[in-house]
Amino acid sequence: MEKFIVNGQRKISGKISAQGSKNGALPILSACVLTNSKVVLHNCPRLSDVYAAIKILEKLGCKALWQEDTLIVDSSGVNNYSIPDDLMREMRSSIVFLGALIGRMGLAEFSAPGGCEIGLRPIDLHVKVMEALGVNIANDNGRITASVKDGLKSCNFVFQFPSVGATENAILAACVSKGTTVLENCAREPEISDLADFLNSCGARIKGAGEGTIVIEGVEGLHGTEYSIIPDRIVASTLLSAATITGGEIEITNIVPSHMRPIIPVFLEMGCKVSVGESWISLKSKDVLNRLKHIVTMPYPGFPTDAQAPIMAVTTIANGTSLFTENIFECRFKHVPELIRFGANIKVEGRMAVVEGVNRLHPATVSAPDLRGGAALIIAALAADGTSEITGITHIDRGYEKIESVLTSIGADVRRK
Ligand code: UD1
Repeated sequence: MEKFIVNGQRKISGKISAQGSKNGALPILSACVLTNSKVVLHNCPRLSDVYAAIKILEKLGCKALWQEDTLIVDSSGVNNYSIPDDLMREMRSSIVFLGALIGRMGLAEFSAPGGCEIGLRPIDLHVKVMEALGVNIANDNGRITASVKDGLKSCNFVFQFPSVGATENAILAACVSKGTTVLENCAREPEISDLADFLNSCGARIKGAGEGTIVIEGVEGLHGTEYSIIPDRIVASTLLSAATITGGEIEITNIVPSHMRPIIPVFLEMGCKVSVGESWISLKSKDVLNRLKHIVTMPYPGFPTDAQAPIMAVTTIANGTSLFTENIFECRFKHVPELIRFGANIKVEGRMAVVEGVNRLHPATVSAPDLRGGAALIIAALAADGTSEITGITHIDRGYEKIESVLTSIGADVRRK
């Protein structure tokens, strides 16, 4: 089992380019199933979640080929509609293949993603919108079959909650349905717009992605395209957190500044100086960080749940008490007991966490509980006065491309062992 060895208290300083977005890439990889020819995807991150999505594509009959950070997917040979249990388990967000498979094959077979590290992750919203599009869903002991008889129909549908994955599945299926679909109370995350932009470049007709109401005029089929995946705003937020906790300075290039809007005020509140250009963001930290009054995770454009853990790690050494409310997932404080091993003072009460800033963190041996929780442990280890060990790093590899090399290239000392 690999682990990270982190020698702390080295200041981050330097310039780095953000990787392509994991949450942008995954639905787009699924969308490739809807096309009948080659898709060329630039800025595709090399992550274990992306490799898991490629395994699913290959299982469905697609061919995938890497050329550096470009992935070429040929979906002309799709001949299977069933995703085996082991592949579903490897990546729980594989539920987003449902919309694409039903659109391409009229059939999809997969297993329910089930509970995971950060919460229950039910799929009721996915099922409801699929049924509105004319899909029959049958559940046989957790193995789910989705089928459509006379083609997908259009619908008017209001999401009870703006689920990212359910909005993506709805877009995927509706873009090849008959007629015009109107989806309301949609998720507005940048990754939704990325998916719609990709699909539109393949011949789909989707308007309003990134807003609450999305209007989709169904088309008969989609063609191939060449497309560049958006930069990863969560990875960028993590790198800003790393610079902040070490009292360092960073410039991150290849970002979309508007995607960073929900997170910038947090760094300003901690007392950092932040500048933003056309496609870059820079941050200069300070010696003693201010506490954060109250961070409340919300759907975009609110503060992202995926940045909660890394930012909490930073507040462990801020001056005063910071409060966090986690509104999106039920069990997204699993990093807390691990942060406490570094000497952090954190109390959890239901969906709230209270962080009393301490003067210093000491080194610790910890285990990554989930993807972003794992990133939080790296952030804490960067500030600790000694050598820390982080195990369970397969979680971190799901979403961060060579995080040890990235951080070491800007002054940190992180090794994979
Ligand atoms: C996506 C992101 C994840 C991010 C999350 C919220 C990907 C691959 N993952 O996950 O990184 O943390 O958005 O920004 O893009 N829910 C239901 N029923 C459903 C679907 C969701 O109750 O049918 C609930 C979930 O349990 C959760 C909340 O809605 O509590 C948000 O989930 P959702 O927006 O669907 O997140 P994901 O698409 O799973």
